[in-house]
Amino acid sequence: MDEWIADIQFERISPVMRLVKKFIFNPLANHLPAAWWKTWLREGQSELALANWNDPGGWRSMVISYEGNPEKPWDKMLVKGGTIPMALRNRRRLASRLIARLLEQADHDPAHAMCLGAGPGLIIMDAMRAAKKNSVATLVDISSDAFDFGLAEAKRRGLSDRVKYIQSDVRDVKQMLDRPIDVVKMIGIFEYLDDEHIVTILEALATMMNPGTSIVFNSISDRHGTNQFFRNVFGLHMHHRSPERIEALLAPAGFGEFRRYREPLGVYTVVVGTKSATGKGLV
Ligand SMILES: C[S@@+](CC[C@H](N)C(=O)[O-])C[C@H]1O[C@@H](n2cnc3c(N)ncnc32)[C@H](O)[C@@H]1O
Repeated sequence: MDEWIADIQFERISPVMRLVKKFIFNPLANHLPAAWWKTWLREGQSELALANWNDPGGWRSMVISYEGNPEKPWDKMLVKGGTIPMALRNRRRLASRLIARLLEQADHDPAHAMCLGAGPGLIIMDAMRAAKKNSVATLVDISSDAFDFGLAEAKRRGLSDRVKYIQSDVRDVKQMLDRPIDVVKMIGIFEYLDDEHIVTILEALATMMNPGTSIVFNSISDRHGTNQFFRNVFGLHMHHRSPERIEALLAPAGFGEFRRYREPLGVYTVVVGTKSATGKGLV
């Protein structure tokens, strides 16, 4: 399946810039007092900082990083040059490409993707536009904050009648499903949840998915080197886990045949798993 992603244009960091980040930028980001950073970012009206202070790691900060085109000077530096925002854009490209190909493999029409912790749903919209097969998507989020933004984006891309937004906790979504799922997308959510929460979600999910259907999720490693900055300045408490660790949490719920795709900065790995015959799907 590597041919699925062979032509993706990823963002990369030169070896020299890696060293500069490791020995100069990251120590400064991590060790200058958080109060100084907060004052500078507040006075510089950083939209990325404001988005994180309002909702740490929420959808708005994702969109600012995905779009990669901010106006304020601090944001230009953080969003364009920061390792995590660059890796987020790589993750978006990787996940949308994989989901597009998985939708094309569905054995019925239209293919159906379900996005859990969807935010506005930019990744699934990228995938639907790229897939050479008709598809629809159900987007579930515990907060409806992103839905207006998502609907406007869907309209702009001609997808309004193919996306449906549901405000719900992912653990309660089963009763709202009206058609079988081909692909479940859980990008950008596991890193904010503890193990117990992930296991509960996966147990619920396993009862909705038929054997042979796919789940797409990601892990995050601490290779970005700025965990202290994100924790102390932005209030982000991320769970850094290896792909193997997350796969071990998914396996008891009947997921396996994991295939890993690491983006070139080594921060995110996008993993595709397959639902086995264990567990009852919605047929
Ligand atoms: C970091 S954002 C990721 C958004 C999107 N998946 C992306 O990659 O851009 C995480 C989203 O998960 C949602 N979320 C967190 N816990 C949830 C839960 N238990 N049920 C549904 N949504 C949840 C949040 O509201 C937020 O919009």
